[in-house]
Amino acid sequence: MPSEGGSRREGEDLKAPGSNLVEWMRRLADRVAEKPAAFHWLRKLPEANYTATKARIRAVHDALGAPRVLDAGCGTGEFSHLFDPARYLGVDLHPGYIAFAKRHNRRHRYLCTDLMVWPDTGEQFDLVLVNGVLHHLDDDTARKLLNRAASRLASPGTLLVIEDVALPRPSSGARLVHGLDHGHFIRDAERWRALVSEQLPITRTETYRSGVCPYHLMLCAAP
Ligand SMILES: C[S@@+](CC[C@H](N)C(=O)[O-])C[C@H]1O[C@@H](n2cnc3c(N)ncnc32)[C@H](O)[C@@H]1O
Repeated sequence: MPSEGGSRREGEDLKAPGSNLVEWMRRLADRVAEKPAAFHWLRKLPEANYTATKARIRAVHDALGAPRVLDAGCGTGEFSHLFDPARYLGVDLHPGYIAFAKRHNRRHRYLCTDLMVWPDTGEQFDLVLVNGVLHHLDDDTARKLLNRAASRLASPGTLLVIEDVALPRPSSGARLVHGLDHGHFIRDAERWRALVSEQLPITRTETYRSGVCPYHLMLCAAP
């Protein structure tokens, strides 16, 4: 599937038809993603257990004191343990991922629902985390999801977006991981900032590596 950015996607050469081995690996990766336990544990390898990402999320959390946290698109709850269970809600539409998250983080609260249609209960959050969700979504859908997630922010509030980023000169490890990722919208840093800043002003950005995977972090402030 072509990216919306118009530019050639990092790892796109790996998605090109014609390479049976790569096609086989991609199908395998898609099947792994459907199995919560395999998805949860295998992803940790190229990401070096997300050490770099966790340190950054934790730093944002700590700077806010004791924020009420919405983990929008929380997946298997990989990052839940960074947050106070009593002040955390993880939301994801994948029932298997939510079941896995509940089994492994028994004190945290989770909801299996589509963020796009999640009714507003009036609950507000000081920190909304959108981590690794938007690179699966085209621009319009990503805008809508960001908007829905940001609408749950308290005033003032903080939105933290972290996404896979396409680099001008990616390492071969990054090209492989991005080529196998079933997110078809890995944008470059400029496009990420353009998309996110439509919702809220960005106060800080950073491109960093977690394992072999390059990420772009965007911190936004809601007035
Ligand atoms: C690559 S996973 C990232 C999960 C988690 N944030 C992490 O970093 O481990 C993307 C997640 O976004 C979820 N997702 C995508 N669209 C969603 C929506 N509209 N509502 C709720 N969850 C959604 C998917 O089900 C998936 O679990």
